[in-house]
Amino acid sequence: MAFRCFFCVCFRFKVIKLKGIHTYIITSRNLKHKGINDISCYTNIMSKKILVTGGTGYIGSHTVVELLNAGHEVEILDNLFNSKIEVLDKIEQLTGTKPKFHQVDLLDYAGLKSVFTSVQFDSVIHFAGLKAVGESVEKPLEYYENNVGGTINLLKCMRETNVKQIIFSSSATVYGVQDSPEYVETMTTGGQLSNPYGRTKYFIEEILKDTCVADPEFEAALLRYFNPIGAHPSGLLGEDPNGIPNNLMPIVMQVARGKREKLGVYGNDYPTKDGTCRRDYIHVVDLAKGHMAMLDHMKKGVSIYNLGSGEPNSVMEVISAFEKASGKDLPYEVVDRRAGDLPEFWANPSKAKAELNWQTELTVDDAMKDTLNFLEKSE
Ligand SMILES: NC(=O)c1ccc[n+]([C@@H]2O[C@H](COP(=O)([O-])OP(=O)(O)OC[C@H]3O[C@@H](n4cnc5c(N)ncnc54)[C@H](O)[C@@H]3O)[C@@H](O)[C@H]2O)c1
Repeated sequence: MAFRCFFCVCFRFKVIKLKGIHTYIITSRNLKHKGINDISCYTNIMSKKILVTGGTGYIGSHTVVELLNAGHEVEILDNLFNSKIEVLDKIEQLTGTKPKFHQVDLLDYAGLKSVFTSVQFDSVIHFAGLKAVGESVEKPLEYYENNVGGTINLLKCMRETNVKQIIFSSSATVYGVQDSPEYVETMTTGGQLSNPYGRTKYFIEEILKDTCVADPEFEAALLRYFNPIGAHPSGLLGEDPNGIPNNLMPIVMQVARGKREKLGVYGNDYPTKDGTCRRDYIHVVDLAKGHMAMLDHMKKGVSIYNLGSGEPNSVMEVISAFEKASGKDLPYEVVDRRAGDLPEFWANPSKAKAELNWQTELTVDDAMKDTLNFLEKSE
């Protein structure tokens, strides 16, 4: 929420954040990073102390940038299993602030507890988790232990230190197979889930619902992401997984870098207009902003929102958009369908628009341009 502050306009302070009776003057350096050059006064009613788990990861790092630019105090917890410590320097370049970092595994209960006892957090944004669908089929126990077990540890530490607000990275996978490909939050979840990864998201959602029943003061937001793509427009942050990537864009990036000969397109005989699967791709910066909108609308009990654009694109359309942005052909080969892939699904994002005042602003073309910029800057 932003509005002009008479005090700031009169005294030419750039930004003021209010937290209860506390007032923070955000430095003009931060402001410059936000690209704000006039004397407008942007005011958030609440500046929060937030623990971001998985904050050096892809979506987490972009969200941390938005949080810091909005004047929140952020600490990051990550075990660096799928991210790099250098991300902290990039966050500092973008925001002027290097967040405090805890290299802790969610499964290390004592380490986690010491983070929670070192400072009183207002809120937790919980990104940390394993996310490779195929790997989860091969290693179900590791996925349940890390994602579900890690979340239980987190919730116990929150309970013991009286932290009552969490935003959880859920996924469209919790919808499973539905009669309609347009997913609405009111649909039943958990039916016909095709892999353990999706089930970890479903189980965590249920655990969070039960936590809200047990503690009527508890606030839990379940954000069901669709398919995040793109990178920060600065080219400093993007998707840079350790090990072998398993989703579309990191593989496209490897092909573009010459690290992989060609992209495998899993089937072109689906009942879609060009035969390839259609997904709702959402720019990671839009997704990060969705968390900001959620933070402003937290309330007691469970809140559930789809974060997607509502407009699906096929794999072939994504390949074309990448070729258009790069001006080069992207080598690909159609291979067999992948078990468990649905032909198409997309978000109905109306609830987030109506209640959070949030909707996507960036396109797949923007995502391709930003991905290429990230590729060039990280050569
Ligand atoms: N990227 C997607 O396509 C997508 C879609 C829907 C939901 N999600 C969910 O969003 C969240 C963030 O996804 P992302 O794409 O940024 O993934 P990511 O792998 O880039 O980030 C996750 C971070 O969590 C850390 N982590 C994993 N297990 C941990 C543990 N036990 N303790 C501490 N840190 C741990 C990793 O090191 C990594 O930095 C995940 O929970 C993911 O399941 C992602």
